[in-house]
Order: sequence, then C-alpha cells, then structure tokens
Amino acid sequence: MKLQHQLNAAFTTLLLVILAVTGFVIYSLILDLLVQDEQRQLKQKGEILVSILNEEYGAQQNIQQFGDFLQDRDLQLFMYDRKQNRVLDSTMSKRVENGFFANNDFADQSEELWEYGNDKYVTSRILFYPKSTGLELILLTPLKDLQVVQHDYFQRLLIVFLIGAIAAIILSYFLTNKLVTPLSKLKWQLKKVEKRQFDQIERIQATGEIKEVEQSVFDMADELQRYMKSQQAFFQNASHELKTPLMTIQGYAEGIRDRIFDETDEEKGLEVMVTEVKRLKKIINEMILLAKLDSEQTVYQPERIDISDLVDQVMDRALPVVNEQGIMIKHNVEPSVTLVADQEKLLRALLNITFNGIRHATNQVNINAKKQDKKIMITVEDDGNGIPEELIPHIFHRFVKGKNGETGLGLAIARAIVEQSGGKITVGKSELGGAMFTLWFTE
Ligand SMILES: Nc1ncnc2c1ncn2[C@@H]1O[C@H](COP(=O)(O)OP(=O)(O)O)[C@@H](O)[C@H]1O
Ligand SMILES: [Mg+2]
Repeated sequence: MKLQHQLNAAFTTLLLVILAVTGFVIYSLILDLLVQDEQRQLKQKGEILVSILNEEYGAQQNIQQFGDFLQDRDLQLFMYDRKQNRVLDSTMSKRVENGFFANNDFADQSEELWEYGNDKYVTSRILFYPKSTGLELILLTPLKDLQVVQHDYFQRLLIVFLIGAIAAIILSYFLTNKLVTPLSKLKWQLKKVEKRQFDQIERIQATGEIKEVEQSVFDMADELQRYMKSQQAFFQNASHELKTPLMTIQGYAEGIRDRIFDETDEEKGLEVMVTEVKRLKKIINEMILLAKLDSEQTVYQPERIDISDLVDQVMDRALPVVNEQGIMIKHNVEPSVTLVADQEKLLRALLNITFNGIRHATNQVNINAKKQDKKIMITVEDDGNGIPEELIPHIFHRFVKGKNGETGLGLAIARAIVEQSGGKITVGKSELGGAMFTLWFTE
C-alpha cells in the first residue's frame, strides 16, 4: 500500500475512534443533562402549583377541587399523603400507581427515576406548606419524552461530526499529499543515481527531515560521481603508466629476438629491460598497496610510537642512499614525543617523503619533529628546486609526478597512511630553498 494511503487510513481510523468515543460520551451526557433539567423544571412547576393550592384552595378539604384543576393542565402527577402512605389524587392510571407502590417508589425519597414495566419516569417531589401535613405533590415526566429529545440532539451532532470528519479527511489527504510528493520525487532522483545520470539530478523542494534526506541523497550522488571520475582517471593513468614500460620491453625483446642489434646494443637493451621490469614491479606493488589502503583491507595496527625511534629507523634506511649521492642528512627530534599510529605504515610514509627529498636535494635534507600546542609536527625539507607552483594542488594525487618523477604514487601512499592515522599532510616551501612536507598528528 502506498505511504499516502497508509497515512490516510491511519488518520481516518484514529478520527473515527475519537469521534465514536466522543459520540458515546456526549450521547449519555445529553440524557443526564436532560433529566437534570427536567427535574429542575418539574420542581419549579411543582412549587408554583403548591403555592397556588395554598393560596387559592387554602386547605386540605379543597383537594378535590384542586384535582379537577390539575386534570385540565395535562400533567402527570400524584397527590400523596406521606402519613397515610396513600395516593389522594392522580392523573395517572391506577395500574401504574399500583406498580409504583409495588416498587416502593412512594416511600423511598431518594429514588428519582421511577420504573413501571418498560417505562421510566423522571420525578420531582414538593411538600405542601405547612410541612406537618405530610402532603406531597409528585410530578412525573416519561423518560421516553426526553429520549426523543436526546435522539434529536444526537442526530444533529452526528451530522456535525460527519461534516467535520469529511472536512478533516479531505484536509488530511492534501497534507499527506504534500508530505509524500517530495518523497516520490526523491525516488525518481534516486533512480537517476542508479542509472548514473548524475547531470540530470534535480534539487527537490522539501522541509524538515525530508529536506535532510534530500540533501544527503544529493551529497551522496555528488560523492559517487567524484569517486567514479577519480576511479576512471586512476584506471586511465594506471594503464598508461603500465603500458609505457611494457612497450619499451616489447621493443627491445622483439629486437633481440629478430637479431637486429649488435652485441653492445643488445647488452644495453637487456639492461633497459631489467630496469623497466623493476619499475613495473614497483608501480604494481605501489598500486596494490594503495588499493589495500583504500579498501582498508590491510589491518591497521595502531600502537604508541616514540617519534625519535621512528626517525632513527628512517635515518638507518636513508644513510646508504645519502652517502652514495654525497648529500647531508640531519635530524632534530624532541625527546619522548609519542603518537598512536601503525608503526610500519607510518615508516613507509616517512620514507617515501624522505627519499623524494634526497632525490631532489642539492646538498641537504633535514628531518625535524616537535610538539606544538598539543599537536605533533614532523617536517622533512630539502634544499633542492622545490615543487613547481602548478603541481602543488595535485601533488598528493595518484600518478602525479614532475620532471624525473618515478611512479607518482609515493606521496599518494603517504597521504593515505597519514590520514588513516588521523593526521594531515601539507606541502610548502622550505627555508633551505626546496620543498617542505609537514605531517600533523594529535597526541
Ligand atoms: N622534495 C621534493 N622536491 C621537489 N619535488 C618533489 C619533492 N617531493 C616530491 N616532488 C614532486 O612530486 C612528485 C610526486 O612525488 P611522488 O608521489 O613521491 O612520486 P615519485 O617520487 O614516484 O615521482 C615527484 O615526481 C616530484 O616531481
Ligand atoms: Mg616518490
């Protein structure tokens, strides 16, 4: 069932239940009120009659005369003598009178609703003056008369309820329609996401939570589109990067097979092939590592690391290369600064950055680490030519490399690792003249 119909059904059911309960309460309340009102009226009527009797007919002996007067008034009443427990006069039939006597209604002062057969009567009893006479006027109204009024009232009430309910249901239809329309519109936008028609996605007018959902859907589509684009770019770049060394290898291999090279060229060809195969292996290994870092397949094992230990390990691995290139490497690490990260991976990130520095330095590479405002800052800088301005915004992207670049994956890997450790990596200019990479971590 459609959401709108479900909402309407729920609302209508609720409305009907409320109206039924209210109707029932009001229905019984009407009769109560009518009975009370009738008793009040009977009492007034009775008091008037009693005062007339007292004034005009004076005393007991004129009862008969008064009786005739009452017969003309079309009233239902008893003239009752408490002392003798006897009805002196009545406008009602003897049968009914006997019925009341049988029920003990005359003697029981508290009984206000008298019953004879299926008929009920609302009563009011007024004592004649002086009270010592024990004479009482009892006026009665059949409950049936009141019930006719009750039904009449209730019918009108039902009509009002009916009109109200219809109005409420129509209103609910419009309101739910307003509520549900953005949802069905959103469904169509999601279908477009499913079909990857990102350019055709439109914003939807909505409020409250639906607006929030709409915003999330829009952000999700945006993110998905960006992801797909970057994925596409990655595959294009990756295939390009893999193709170049493969073509070189193929060229030399075919040349050697077809014996078109002399001995020295063949030697050189084999040398190039070995270098290219090594490069291929490096690219593939780095791609695999990046993919793993991306999908978080690699188990990330955070532990508390002492930064000076970490930098020592970087130095150990860097020194042979540095010596070979005739470059100086210095480090300056504040003692007992620690952070929580995966040691092996963070070492890998630092090595990628340091080896880049060594490769691009003229004479000098510096590694510094210190704590500053609860933040841990590790910098690697060199005195080379620095990173070209136009490359800076993209330097951490995959396959982005400058002149004499290798795989273009080293910095992408470094960033993935640093971010996985909850840190940040930035690049700027070093005072030494070259590039300066800064890694920020919280303790
Ligand atoms: N210290 C540095 N000085 C100058 N340029 C650098 C430095 N570090 C990195 N770069 C530039 O950034 C590019 C990307 O680096 P990287 O991702 O490590 O790839 P790769 O080292 O394989 O080329 C490099 O090709 C180089 O142009
Ligand atoms: Mg590199």
